[in-house]
Amino acid sequence: MIILKTIAATQQFIVAEKQTGKTIGFVPTMGALHAGHISLVQQAKSETSLVVVSIFVNPTQFNDPKDLEKYPITIEADTEKLVAAGVNVLFLPSVAEMYPDEASKQMPYDLGYIDTVLEAAARPGHFKGVALVVKKLLDIVTPNKLYMGQKDYQQLQVVRKLIADFDLGIELISCPIIREPDGLAMSSRNVRLTGEHRIAATELSKALFKLKEDIAKQTPPSAKESAKQHLNSHPLIDVVYLEIVNGHTLVPISDVNEAPDIAALLAARVGGVHLLDNIILKP
Ligand code: PAF
Repeated sequence: MIILKTIAATQQFIVAEKQTGKTIGFVPTMGALHAGHISLVQQAKSETSLVVVSIFVNPTQFNDPKDLEKYPITIEADTEKLVAAGVNVLFLPSVAEMYPDEASKQMPYDLGYIDTVLEAAARPGHFKGVALVVKKLLDIVTPNKLYMGQKDYQQLQVVRKLIADFDLGIELISCPIIREPDGLAMSSRNVRLTGEHRIAATELSKALFKLKEDIAKQTPPSAKESAKQHLNSHPLIDVVYLEIVNGHTLVPISDVNEAPDIAALLAARVGGVHLLDNIILKP
C-alpha cells in the first residue's frame, strides 16, 4: 500500500494509474476503522482495479468541538487493517493540506431541505462540512465509484445530491450496515460505550427491527410512536429523533404508499454518545 500525504502527489499518482486503464474505487473515512469500513473496501476491491482509502478527521463537520477532541485516532491500527484488506493507496492529508486558509473552509453551496431536518437539525452545519470535504476529496481522487455506508443514511442522500448537482458522473454505491452480533450498528463511536450503556445501545436496532414488523399492521405514525415510547422508557436512552421518511427526499410519510423507498431513521444519545441507526422499510 502506498501512503500519500499531499494533494499534488495523489493527483499525479491517480492520473498515471488511470492512463494505464485502471478504474478507481474510493472509500472516504475518518479512521478508527472497523469491520464496516473493511466491508466497503472489500466491495470496492471486487468492482474496481485500484482502491483508494482516505483517512481525514474533517474539522468542518464537527459542530461540537468536544466531539472532535474525543474522536478516536488509531492511525497505526488503521494502516495495518488497510494493508491486510489489500488497499492500494491511503490518502492521509493534514488539516493544513485540505484547508490551507479560512476561505477554503467555506461551503458556498446550499443543500436545501435535507440539510434542515433530522441529523442536520441535531447537528447544525454538520452536512455542510461533510459536503465540502467530500467534494474536495472527489476532486482529488476522481473515482469511478464511491463507496459509502448505509449506516449514515442522511449523509448518503447529501452525497447523492452533491454528485447530481455538480454532474460529477461518479457512481455512488451504498453498502449495507454491518452489525455486532447483538445487533448494534458498527460505528467508530461505539468504543465510547461501556458497561450498561453498551447493553442499552442494543435497544436501538431491536426497536428498528420491531418497527419493520409493526409497519405491516400499523400506520407509520403509530408504529413510530410506539417505537419512540419504548426507547424513551429506557432510563439510559434519549431519542433525538425517530422518523419514517421518503428514502430519497427524507420528507416524513404517513402512509407506506406515499413513496417507492421508505426508511426509518433513528438517532439517540446513550451515555453521552450520539448513536445513529436506520432500517429500510421499502422496497
Ligand atoms: O462518514 C464519514 O466517515 C465522514 O463523514 C466522511 C464521509 C469520511 C467525510 O468526512
